[in-house]
Amino acid sequence: MTASMNQTASELLARIERCEAKIGVVGLGYVGLPLAHALHSGGLPILGFDIDQSKIDAIKAGRNYLVHLGNELVTSLRDSSRFEGTTDFSRLGEADVIIICVPTPLGKHWEPDISYIIETAKAIGRTLRKGQLVILESTTYPRTTRDDMMPAIMAAAGGRARSLEIGRDIFGAFSPEREDPGRKSHSTSTIPKLVGGLDAASTELAAAVYRKGVTTVVPVSSAEVAESAKLLENIFRAVNIALVNEMKVVLDAMDIDVWEVVRAAATKPFGYMPFYPGPGLGGHCIPIDPFYLTWKAREYGHSTRFIELAGEINTSMPHYVVDRTAEALNGQGKPMKGSKILVVGLAYKADIDDVRESPSFELIELCKHRGAVVDYYDPLVPATWAGRKHDLKMTSVAYDAKTIASYDCILISTAHSSVDYRTIAEHAKLCVDTRDALRAFEKTMGARLVRA
Ligand SMILES: NC(=O)c1ccc[n+]([C@@H]2O[C@H](COP(=O)([O-])OP(=O)(O)OC[C@H]3O[C@@H](n4cnc5c(N)ncnc54)[C@H](O)[C@@H]3O)[C@@H](O)[C@H]2O)c1
Repeated sequence: MTASMNQTASELLARIERCEAKIGVVGLGYVGLPLAHALHSGGLPILGFDIDQSKIDAIKAGRNYLVHLGNELVTSLRDSSRFEGTTDFSRLGEADVIIICVPTPLGKHWEPDISYIIETAKAIGRTLRKGQLVILESTTYPRTTRDDMMPAIMAAAGGRARSLEIGRDIFGAFSPEREDPGRKSHSTSTIPKLVGGLDAASTELAAAVYRKGVTTVVPVSSAEVAESAKLLENIFRAVNIALVNEMKVVLDAMDIDVWEVVRAAATKPFGYMPFYPGPGLGGHCIPIDPFYLTWKAREYGHSTRFIELAGEINTSMPHYVVDRTAEALNGQGKPMKGSKILVVGLAYKADIDDVRESPSFELIELCKHRGAVVDYYDPLVPATWAGRKHDLKMTSVAYDAKTIASYDCILISTAHSSVDYRTIAEHAKLCVDTRDALRAFEKTMGARLVRA
């Protein structure tokens, strides 16, 4: 027992340390599934929850629906007596620790949508019992854990909540996820994990859980520090990407190669970190999370000008790229209307199959809006499905010299490493490259290559 712990907390800590505490992971997506795997590898028993029965069935069948993480991840869970997946949320009471990894999207008016967190909190409340620790991992605005999640849990617990006090009987913490899908050099277990509790005991308990599966755990003084640190990390990226995108537009106009400029600047051994231009922001985090703070800041009478300016620049990028594409076609005597364009790369970043918020969708729609005939090729995304904003109902075309040669313009939106760019270099009539994927072929391509 440590100074900050009462009997209930100490008992839970001992159960965590002996790997007897059952961990409920709610939301088995990009964050929850690898987390469940990391904690399971550390010896903890895991009860995985999802509202999507097909995910539970896929795990049972040993098939990983998150292809980039590989099948071994799910087969190791399926074959273990310490893992079970379920859609039965009445079983939340079985878990000593519940980790919430559900989506936190934006609403229609760019307001935070924490309804998934609240729904989960209500489900937890319905089976709440003394000695449970609830950790929120979903990215959100500061104070959500304390002011939204915990009250929702306690309200749903009804009469039982009268005998349960937060910090004495029930514990709460926030621990942000820092995953970078597709990055091979880091995994859930090697990325340092911030942990901030609603009180000192909660911090210690949550840190003890993560130490089972994560090499470096960094406790901070409160849930609010952990929540804010996550937003700072993402805002930092959004702002710096916007900065380099703005540079790109200016340097393009001056006929200066922004990619070479970024690489040159990156030789400085201190005070600079390279960010690369692109066709716009994608993914579940960077285009969305900063606006959680923008919304919350208003409650305190503040505006977040850096965030909004970055948002404005980054969301203008697909328009810029399509303008450059129209210009490039024009240079070959072709109007955009009626031209055949192949967008290469639908995922929002290289070497993953995640298309959430991908700017490729925007590019496709903008080109179509101007009358172009648009197809896409993505080796990792064979077909589109209905997303938050787009439902293109398209399937990836074949990738060969004849197909490439049949388009008026190839528009590289995402540079998967498995794509053979030589085929484009040799057979494309024109290529607009937003990712510098054709650097090696710039001499042979000459005017057929345009960067945007
Ligand atoms: N993907 C990333 O790289 C990343 C990185 C850092 C943080 N985050 C944050 O983590 C959170 C989860 O993101 P994700 O990428 O894992 O999302 P995801 O969509 O991949 O996974 C969410 C899972 O939750 C399930 N779900 C939805 N509502 C549910 C409910 N009420 N109860 C139980 N399960 C429910 C969905 O079926 C899905 O399987 C978000 O807040 C996100 O911002 C994501």
